[in-house]
Amino acid sequence: MDKHVDVAVATAADWEAIRAIYAAGIETGEATFNTVDDIPAGEVWFAGKLAGLTLKAVDSHTQKMLGWATLSAVSKRRVYRGIAEVSVYVAADAQGRGVGSRLLAQLLTAAQQAGIWTIEARIFPTNHASLRLHEKFGFVRLGTHQRRAQQYGVWRDVVSMEWRSDDEPFPIALATRDQFTAVRELLQACDLPTADLVPAAMDRFLVCGAAGQVDGCIGFERYGNSALLRSLAVAPAMQGNKLGSRLIDCLEAFVRGRGIEQLWLLTTTAESFFARRGYVGAARESAPEAMQGAAEFADLCPSTAHCMRKMLY
Ligand SMILES: CC(C)(COP(=O)(O)OP(=O)(O)OC[C@H]1O[C@@H](n2cnc3c(N)ncnc32)[C@H](O)[C@@H]1OP(=O)(O)O)[C@@H](O)C(=O)NCCC(=O)NCCS
Repeated sequence: MDKHVDVAVATAADWEAIRAIYAAGIETGEATFNTVDDIPAGEVWFAGKLAGLTLKAVDSHTQKMLGWATLSAVSKRRVYRGIAEVSVYVAADAQGRGVGSRLLAQLLTAAQQAGIWTIEARIFPTNHASLRLHEKFGFVRLGTHQRRAQQYGVWRDVVSMEWRSDDEPFPIALATRDQFTAVRELLQACDLPTADLVPAAMDRFLVCGAAGQVDGCIGFERYGNSALLRSLAVAPAMQGNKLGSRLIDCLEAFVRGRGIEQLWLLTTTAESFFARRGYVGAARESAPEAMQGAAEFADLCPSTAHCMRKMLY
């Protein structure tokens, strides 16, 4: 690692140096489909980058620019505001000295602080330095686009890589059907009913945890404008971290977004837990008729279970 390298935020005043390094990178033929003619004016280039997320590396003795790294938004859609694409270019005579590594390390930290949750990189399969650099910082290969586009009349493949921020320690996501077994095991460990659970039900389950390991789950079954909240479970080792509350908050927001107005549930053990979250006791018979026919209502939960309801609007 070269000690005489400073990394700082680049500004419009750095454009000529950025441009020169970019042009040299383009001419290797291994960096991008863009040609030198595609390089826009400096202000246009900066306007396409996320504010404050273009970093430069300079030699601390000579102040000469050694390289730069930047992030561009991948979409104008608000929902994708935390997704960016990375570019990193190091001057030919500064390569292999750790400059790319310094830039990428600081860019990932700055991106995380700016609320970016995923960064994409598209790299030619022959650009071994770039593939290695990105792998070193936790980018994973998603796959290879075959014959993505032509470079001077020749079709070229492109490797797609992705980095994810680990800022959210317990992310809650819609379950996938291959998480069925893990969800069922969690429910069984918590003594909750599973007899009616099928893999397709995972389409209506939220889970917290990595691919094969589910730390918490919650499900719903829709009946018109109402839904039955079912199968809230948090693994014993994860209890006491407010994960149960987060799962309920998430489920409520998720079903409200789908036009559901009331949530119903049956519980034998957690009445006060749900009461603190705004659920009130209700007669089983007042639940929507179709819901009363649901397996959980009809067969799985004992008649002594408490029936509770929450209005979401
Ligand atoms: C890709 C690039 C940015 C890497 O920058 P760099 O400053 O040379 O990278 P570093 O010195 O930090 O090295 C990063 C890692 O890549 C490895 N590496 C460097 N050159 C390599 C090569 N030719 N083949 C395989 N690995 C290589 C290094 O050993 C290091 O890994 P390590 O720390 O495990 O040893 C630089 O080569 C470059 O600017 N290329 C031209 C522009 C370009 O292709 N940009 C990327 C577009 S996708």
